[in-house]
Amino acid sequence: MNLSREQMLAEMGITPIWRLRESGAAAPADGAVDTPPPVETPAPVAVASETVPVAVDALEWPELAARVASCKACGLCEQRKQAVLGVGDRDPNWLFVGEGPGSEEDVAGEPFVGQAGQLLDNMLAALDLARGDKVYIGNAVKCRPPGNRTPEAAEMAACRPYLERQIALLRPKVIVLLGKAAVHALLHDDKSLASLRGRRFAYQGIPVVVTYHPAYLLRNLPEKAKAWEDLLFARRCLREAAAGK
Ligand code: URA
Repeated sequence: MNLSREQMLAEMGITPIWRLRESGAAAPADGAVDTPPPVETPAPVAVASETVPVAVDALEWPELAARVASCKACGLCEQRKQAVLGVGDRDPNWLFVGEGPGSEEDVAGEPFVGQAGQLLDNMLAALDLARGDKVYIGNAVKCRPPGNRTPEAAEMAACRPYLERQIALLRPKVIVLLGKAAVHALLHDDKSLASLRGRRFAYQGIPVVVTYHPAYLLRNLPEKAKAWEDLLFARRCLREAAAGK
């Protein structure tokens, strides 16, 4: 289905509040400033002690994919159909990190193929992006948590080396964390999303931006406008990073 930009924005529930300007920035309805605030690097906190460490620092994609496929570092391996590594361009500008595979992703072996994925695709399209084209999509944990529950801290800690290795291989220009689990996994921060939005964090020198998970947006439609604001903020961070600022 080919949607016009107007239709895509409408699909996201963000017209007529948000419109792309020629400069690429949007006019915030509440008069928020365009300039990104300074980079923040949150202090690391201790991770769960039950983590089974996986050593993947030196692995290239084929070995990394094989290790993820056969991983037994936590109990999530017991009920998965398959591990879901991630999908997309391995030379990306954008990396989106979600929580973990759901039932459809567990079957398909690809992140965000269900309803939340449809919304994510619409969000990408509204930015003139598409999965696989300078965009990579991954998750905090690679195996489906039973009943689609939130992954536990120990599970995210066990899976974190894979995410870290993916980021080291991908070297995206911006990372967008979708929801609290992704924030916990990468930034070790458990504060509310509302308090983390609109701030530019850094992971290994890469700007990191936080926004709501698409599944949350499906249940809380008015928050879509905020997610759109976050994506525009992420794009500004990306452009600044690309310009070496
Ligand atoms: N939700 C996620 O966080 N990731 C997926 O891959 C699918 C749904």
